[in-house]
Amino acid sequence: MNPNDNPTIYRAPSEVSGEYRDMLIRLMTRQFYAETATAEVFGRSVGCAPTLREKLMAAEFAAEEAEHSERLCRIFEDLGIDPDEVFRSRPPAAKFWDLDMDNWVHIAVFNFTVDRAGSHQIMEYMESSYRPWAEQMGEVLEDEEGHYGNGVANLREFARDPKVFKEFQDLYFRMLPVTIKRAFGRPTGPDNDYCVKVGLKRHTTEQVVNRYLTEMLGYMRECKLKFPPLSAFEKIGAELMPSTKEIILSNQ
Ligand SMILES: [Fe+2]
Ligand SMILES: [Fe+2]
Repeated sequence: MNPNDNPTIYRAPSEVSGEYRDMLIRLMTRQFYAETATAEVFGRSVGCAPTLREKLMAAEFAAEEAEHSERLCRIFEDLGIDPDEVFRSRPPAAKFWDLDMDNWVHIAVFNFTVDRAGSHQIMEYMESSYRPWAEQMGEVLEDEEGHYGNGVANLREFARDPKVFKEFQDLYFRMLPVTIKRAFGRPTGPDNDYCVKVGLKRHTTEQVVNRYLTEMLGYMRECKLKFPPLSAFEKIGAELMPSTKEIILSNQ
């Protein structure tokens, strides 16, 4: 499906209804789950970060993720939705991401993998046809650049210690398939087509996933981190398009 270059633009909550409003709320809910979960993971990481500098940075990131969550709360409220109710429907962060929140290597993999997957979705939302949401995402993405910079710095540091790097690689093998499945969802289907048609997103899920993996690949090559085998994706039912498989197979 090709992106629609001229979707109808909505500038106020009162302008949206029906299927469009439902889909908007579903996408925002997904982002809200991610922002609140990330706030929790970074919050917990203050305790297990190994150095003072990393503890302070974790605290700063937790505050930023909380601020991203608050932005969404205001947009929910404007749409007549109680953000507390949305929050109550969220699965526990650790369970959702198959994550041990008290382990620093887990958190570093989370930062490099899961948090960045969220950023690639936000890049789509920044150009969304629902302007009250899109206009809030520029500053969010600026924060996310800082989070990813730290994720990459951690990867580089771990790459220097073979024992820790092995742990990072093993966890990455486990966490990347979960991320593809949970952060991006199914690569095809009527919901995806609808989002692109009405401009809630500007690229297909296949394009967004490929952009995410290609960005990672540069840093992975530098540090000799490999993609998990395709069987790891199949095992948990993470669907991949042929073009996505090609990227994954290029760095085994
Ligand atoms: Fe965030
Ligand atoms: Fe983040």
